[in-house]
Amino acid sequence: MPAADSTPQSNGEVVVSVRGLTKVFKDFWNRPKARAVDGVDFEVRKGEIFGLLGPNGSGKSTTIKLLLGLLNPTKGHIEVFGHSPRHVQTKSRIGYLPEESYLYRYLNSRETLDFFGNLFHLDKKDRDNRAEQLLDMVGLGKTQTRAVGEFSKGMQRRIGLAQALINDPDLVILDEPTAGLDPIGCREVKDLIIALAKRGKTVILSSHLLSDVEDVCDRVVIYYGGKIRADGTLKDLLATPDTLRITTPVLSRETLEKVLAIIRHDITTGEVRVDNPTQNLESYFLDVVNKARAANETSGAQSGARVAEYLRGGAETKSSGEKVLEKLSLPKTALPAAVKPATEIATPKADEGKLAALAQPAAPTPQPEKSAPKTEAVKPMDLSKADERLSSLLGGKK
Ligand SMILES: Nc1ncnc2c1ncn2[C@@H]1O[C@H](COP(=O)(O)OP(=O)(O)OP(=O)(O)O)[C@@H](O)[C@H]1O
Ligand SMILES: [Mg+2]
Repeated sequence: MPAADSTPQSNGEVVVSVRGLTKVFKDFWNRPKARAVDGVDFEVRKGEIFGLLGPNGSGKSTTIKLLLGLLNPTKGHIEVFGHSPRHVQTKSRIGYLPEESYLYRYLNSRETLDFFGNLFHLDKKDRDNRAEQLLDMVGLGKTQTRAVGEFSKGMQRRIGLAQALINDPDLVILDEPTAGLDPIGCREVKDLIIALAKRGKTVILSSHLLSDVEDVCDRVVIYYGGKIRADGTLKDLLATPDTLRITTPVLSRETLEKVLAIIRHDITTGEVRVDNPTQNLESYFLDVVNKARAANETSGAQSGARVAEYLRGGAETKSSGEKVLEKLSLPKTALPAAVKPATEIATPKADEGKLAALAQPAAPTPQPEKSAPKTEAVKPMDLSKADERLSSLLGGKK
């Protein structure tokens, strides 16, 4: 298994280091029952969003419990902030969202956060202040007097997330953070995770919802049967270097035939495919609900507001909103220029000279931005939208 320190972003402070980690659950007679984690190595660095992926029962939650010091490893070594996970001060720097909510069902959401704030010895003023910001952030501001036992599954997830952030942790560990959330909640949680990482917080999350992981994680490990079967940045893991995709505005039949003739002249093997990109279901759903939401009241969760101010870090809290926005609007990767994408041509990879030649006759006339149809099919990681949403989440608060 390659160690994670062979990955490109290996210049930040190491927050979590795991070597040869093994957990074997034993039965009453001390006989091995399940080898949940088996010789796992990885490192997570400051500011990274690190994903633990794998099918059910592959060892994700067990790894998380080992990182939190809730379970003892059978073998291997774990360091969190340079200490054992059981070190008390280390624990105070971690926020944890468990797979199942462990909430006192008769407390309301305000009291729940107050209870957890007390565990971290926050004074009353801080507890109140943070609870208010967090409830607003996770969209439960209007339901704060209702007992959490009455909450829907997604609402319980939201209060769980707020509880995980009450201590302003440096390391946030989220076990299936989007389980049970509606698509709006999912998008908001994903945006929140990105916002936290941009503030230098380190996030480890587990999920088997691949689209969630794809949208937020810098680096992932994929578990199967307790072992890591693949690890690396998503860019490296998902790249298909032997094919190429060109997206253009709709072309006339005549132009398309000319383009295809040039491509076919050059390519003797492999398929050349032409199709129309489609909007993905998440963005379509969000569009529909956003329109409906404008008019209607709901007894469920509201759409979450901006990231709680105290989570934004000392310097940014006091500086102008612009500084925050500027930081947030830096895309993770260069975004493609705004053109009107309507036709996609996927080909086996052609060399750059041929491509440049191809671009001449078929060069698209840039369309005005407002007429561009919404599409995400051409951008597997739609960071432009994420940044836009982050800006609106964070922009308003001074
Ligand atoms: N307390 C326990 N006692 C015995 N076996 C356990 C215990 N906790 C987990 N296991 C076993 O360890 C293996 C890994 O479980 P784990 O909960 O880590 O999986 P997971 O990847 O989080 O799965 P899921 O996606 O379903 O949450 C499973 O075979 C599970 O049955
Ligand atoms: Mg699990």
